[in-house]
Amino acid sequence: MSSQQSSKPPYLDPNLPIEYRVKDLLSRMTLEEKIAQLSSVDVSKLLDGRKFSVEKARELLKHGVGQITRVSGSRIGLTPREAAEVANAIQRFLREETRLGIPAIVHEECLAGFMAFNATSFPQAINLASTWNPQLVERVAEVIRRQMRAVGAHQGLAPVLDIARDPRWGRTEETYGEDPYLAASIGVAYIRGLQGSDIRYGVVATPKHFVAHGVPEGGRNLAPVHVSPRELREVFMFPFEAAVKCAGALSLMNAYHDIDGIPCAASRELLTDILRGEWGFQGYVVSDYGAIRMLKTFHLVAYDERDAAIQALEAGIDVELPDRLCYGDPLLQAVREGLVSEELVDIAVARVLRVKFLLGLFEDPYVDVDRAPSLFDTEEDRSLALQVARESIILLKNDGILPIPRDIRSIAVVGPNAASTRCLLGDYSYTVHVRTAVDAVRIVSVLDGIKSRVPSSCSVYYAMGCDVSSTSKEGFDEAIAIAEKSDVVVAVLGETSGLFGSGLSGEGNDRVDLRLPGVQEEFVEALHSVGKPIILVLVNGRPLILDRIVDKCQAIIEAWFPGEEGGNAIADILFGYYNPAGRLPISIPKETGQIPVYYSRRPSSFRSYISMDAKPLYPFGHGLSYTSFSYRDLEISPSRIQPNGYVEVKLRIENTGTRLGEEVVQLYIRKDTPSVSRPVKELKGFKRIPVNVGEVKTVRFKLWAEQLAFYDRRMKLTVEPGVYTVMVGSSSEDIRLTGKFEIVGTARILDSRRIFFSHVDVM
Ligand code: BGC
Repeated sequence: MSSQQSSKPPYLDPNLPIEYRVKDLLSRMTLEEKIAQLSSVDVSKLLDGRKFSVEKARELLKHGVGQITRVSGSRIGLTPREAAEVANAIQRFLREETRLGIPAIVHEECLAGFMAFNATSFPQAINLASTWNPQLVERVAEVIRRQMRAVGAHQGLAPVLDIARDPRWGRTEETYGEDPYLAASIGVAYIRGLQGSDIRYGVVATPKHFVAHGVPEGGRNLAPVHVSPRELREVFMFPFEAAVKCAGALSLMNAYHDIDGIPCAASRELLTDILRGEWGFQGYVVSDYGAIRMLKTFHLVAYDERDAAIQALEAGIDVELPDRLCYGDPLLQAVREGLVSEELVDIAVARVLRVKFLLGLFEDPYVDVDRAPSLFDTEEDRSLALQVARESIILLKNDGILPIPRDIRSIAVVGPNAASTRCLLGDYSYTVHVRTAVDAVRIVSVLDGIKSRVPSSCSVYYAMGCDVSSTSKEGFDEAIAIAEKSDVVVAVLGETSGLFGSGLSGEGNDRVDLRLPGVQEEFVEALHSVGKPIILVLVNGRPLILDRIVDKCQAIIEAWFPGEEGGNAIADILFGYYNPAGRLPISIPKETGQIPVYYSRRPSSFRSYISMDAKPLYPFGHGLSYTSFSYRDLEISPSRIQPNGYVEVKLRIENTGTRLGEEVVQLYIRKDTPSVSRPVKELKGFKRIPVNVGEVKTVRFKLWAEQLAFYDRRMKLTVEPGVYTVMVGSSSEDIRLTGKFEIVGTARILDSRRIFFSHVDVM
């Protein structure tokens, strides 16, 4: 035993520095073994039925493997226990039957919960952003981390940090909205929660899709992106830069599209010069699924798989997902023929190995199979899912009908999304993504949520009325009949999420117009003719055009895809058990033709059309409450600072209404007379604050001059001296307090950005 221990190679010694272990291991590897670390094998190829097959592994994993694709997230629908068993069996095989015993990283999806059978389905990403509560989002990611590690998964292909500026794009629901500061704040919190404070127990985060995937030409997924160099850096790269520098993301995924003709998967400028050279990224880059081969099949810039592999490796993609299409034999051949150097392969392999060591996989790659199931969707997880759903729901309009009085006698609950459970989930929930026959976790519909909240004296009637997208109006009469005998109508309408043709929102489901699909607008008109108050509850993935129905509804609630506890959360808000405070992370246009309608446009972008102005129906940051808040006593000090200093922006808010509530205080800035035209406002700080009736709270933002840096005429990141206007308010258009301060001295050019966020105190 002792002689065996002393003959242990250095890479297996946990007491040695990781860089040393990486070097040692790399020096022992054959070219085949190295290349095997740069790709992934789909779990389904390693299974016989629902069990691990040693024979298949002997064939496919003989040189080892970098990653395993989706053990829990496969279509097979493995239970947590089965997934843990399969993960353990794969690691055991690699450890015991391959020459060097290198464990695999198992990657999975986890956009809004671990995409796995029985895992908690949290509200969709756009909901997470609508909470404006990064601390809460961090807790969500902690639950995801726990559930993933329980079954031996180590990498999550999330968060999506794409800035969504064309809501025709189906993936808008997967984003944190239109604003780089909000998206970065939520994204950094998510990554911190997922990776945890000790990565040995954490899950590697994979911010995606680098970069600017959220503004495809015409809103069509994967289409070319046209953004100026300055906006690319200031808007679209900002959350990624924060993810790397503030949250230490250990992986990152490229985007499928091209920018000005250069596919992101083949862009050395993006994946190496900026990401590693400028930002100091230390992790590994994974390809979006199939993105390397798409250099040949989709962008038509590579002759064959080998050429695609060379282009991607030279650009800086370290690992090919989800399978060995290019980083297998084609790459092997390319190295053997001297078309690409083995040193380049070594660099990529070292990045992968380094993270495997950091994860502690060489010490213990196994999980406790018996314990795994108990860590899935616990009561606490469900109550967190409920809290997040409540915090994410946005009250867009309320003429006073909400909250519904608790002595109400009858309610008609209608609409295609009222009784459905699946409609409450986003595209990367297990149920929707894999199109399971039964829900993968318990989901509470809006109808059930309402029934559980109403007093027994209240009658709840239900009729679907119409489908989400079909043109049949056959169900209208039944819905009208129950509306006639009810005091109030709750109409639950919207979209359904799905992928590539199933559903109306989600990946691959881009739309040419943003109206309520099918005959849902006519349905509202028909209900309106009854004359009862209508409360519209929207369950959908992207901003929808509401012009034809907004005046016919007394209240409108935007719930997005609120997850497994969504029905309870919506009911809590309807009856006032929870006072809403969610805020729009994306503007809702008046008309599809207004797009783009994001708030932080430059001053010249606000000219009116013949028929309407250029403002949205509901602006970024908008969201009502059942109470009211007043703002006062803005103080900005000092009034003059140096370009390396900061100001404190202090103000008071008071709950002037009659209920406990939360206010999302938003801080925007603008430079007066900048050297290049700048957005009319930019978010630079925010805080969601609970305030009791009559209570006054003081909010203090510490705003650094460095946060105001922008790319000047020479494309230098510069803190420009001059006067800055500070705007504090309840939405991007509901500005309550305004003040100014000045940056004096000479312009300060930053080599690299270090401060991304304001610090906020509440007293
Ligand atoms: C998406 C990625 C995702 C991958 C695997 C791709 O189509 O663009 O975001 O991680 O599929 O699910």
